[in-house]
Amino acid sequence: MKTTVGIVGAGPAGLTLALLLRAREIDSVVLERRDRSYVEERVRAGLLEQNTVDLMRELGVAARLDQEGLPHDGVYLRWQGQTLHIPMTELTGRTITIYGQQQVVRDLIDACGERGIEVRFEVEDVAVHGLDSDSPHITFAGEGGEERLDCELIAGCDGFHGVCRPAIPAGVLTEYEYEYPFGWLGILAEAAPTTDELIYAWHEHGFSLYSMRSPEISRLYLQVPADEDIADWPDERIWEELQARLGVDGWRVGEGRIFDKGVTPMRSFVCEPMQFGRLFLAGDAAHIVPPTGAKGLNLAVNDVRLLAAAMGAHFADGDDSLLERYSADALRRVWRAQDFSNFMTQLLHRLDDGEPFGARLQLARLEQLKRSEAARRNLAENYVGLPAAPDF
Ligand code: FAD
Ligand code: PHB
Repeated sequence: MKTTVGIVGAGPAGLTLALLLRAREIDSVVLERRDRSYVEERVRAGLLEQNTVDLMRELGVAARLDQEGLPHDGVYLRWQGQTLHIPMTELTGRTITIYGQQQVVRDLIDACGERGIEVRFEVEDVAVHGLDSDSPHITFAGEGGEERLDCELIAGCDGFHGVCRPAIPAGVLTEYEYEYPFGWLGILAEAAPTTDELIYAWHEHGFSLYSMRSPEISRLYLQVPADEDIADWPDERIWEELQARLGVDGWRVGEGRIFDKGVTPMRSFVCEPMQFGRLFLAGDAAHIVPPTGAKGLNLAVNDVRLLAAAMGAHFADGDDSLLERYSADALRRVWRAQDFSNFMTQLLHRLDDGEPFGARLQLARLEQLKRSEAARRNLAENYVGLPAAPDF
């Protein structure tokens, strides 16, 4: 097989890139290890920045998002019985939208199908070759045995555990990593949210987040130790802990049947540069943020926005200046998001270092958010995401 851009991974990054390239009349093939229903049902992020929503609209894939997405004007911070509303839209003029990553991925796969973009699911043993040569190619095991995809450029959109980043020779990449000693236990429940906005809660027992997917479905998270066994969390214990951490006098979290639960470890990771020869990394393949800042999916979409523009200039005009700058341009937003995600994580999670000092600093920072509009505005600007720019 032959195509112009070979894309590894059918997550938000790979699928969005394929659609952005098609809009520039550049062909691509997407290779995905899992089957379609696995990819469409994987429960993950839920909060879209305005940049992400704008891009989905530009691509013409936002019909369902515009109908079913829940626009939000702010979030609440809650600690020690106090609740502070951060009015994001009032402070920044921008909005955030709740719309599950599952829905995003489903819409993107449908659009690829409608536009004749080939997405090959269930391909095994994907390997990338000739990255610093004139003939990069991808091999994989498909239905007909070993296959080969020749391409001009390769996009590694295969997530943190993919094969593209490890295919870069040793010594090329610098990797920055921080593993947090805690993770998030996340649930989906058939329960109408009893809050109008997301609630990020600081509590002596640990962090908790109240989010949602629809007027009937709640998405909730609890900070737990990184190696926590989900078997130790029967449903009653989960609700009890959510009520303890999120509840306030006269108000409770709405309960209902839990139909999905899992524990995700938390990590910060960046590799630099996000390129080697003709291989360009995007999304989780190149960086991971802790979810407290709700940035993972949005960063993945931003990477491919920059990458598609750069590939467009390469194929249309033979102009490689944007491709050469791709890594530096993408990393600017990646590091901004790393810093903000780390800030939100350190502000709200129980630090478990045996010292009460950290908790007092957290309370001082929360108090400052209550007192200072400048502090609230800074948080809001980071949370909603600065406007997209050609170099950011
Ligand atoms: P992915 O979505 O990981 O997509 C990569 C794709 O590549 C996958 O479909 C994978 O199957 C495929 N692939 C992998 N290896 C190969 C291979 N060898 N060959 C072919 N295909 C391959 N972010 C938030 O903002 N909030 C959250 O609550 C949140 N929760 C998360 C929970 C979990 C369990 C995880 C893993 C991530 C979570 N994230 C969250 C992060 C967010 O979901 C990611 O940032 C986002 O999915 C990144 O998109 P991506 O396309 O770069 O990678
Ligand atoms: C979610 O709805 O899954 C969600 C929202 C905000 C976050 C993380 C996850 O910070």
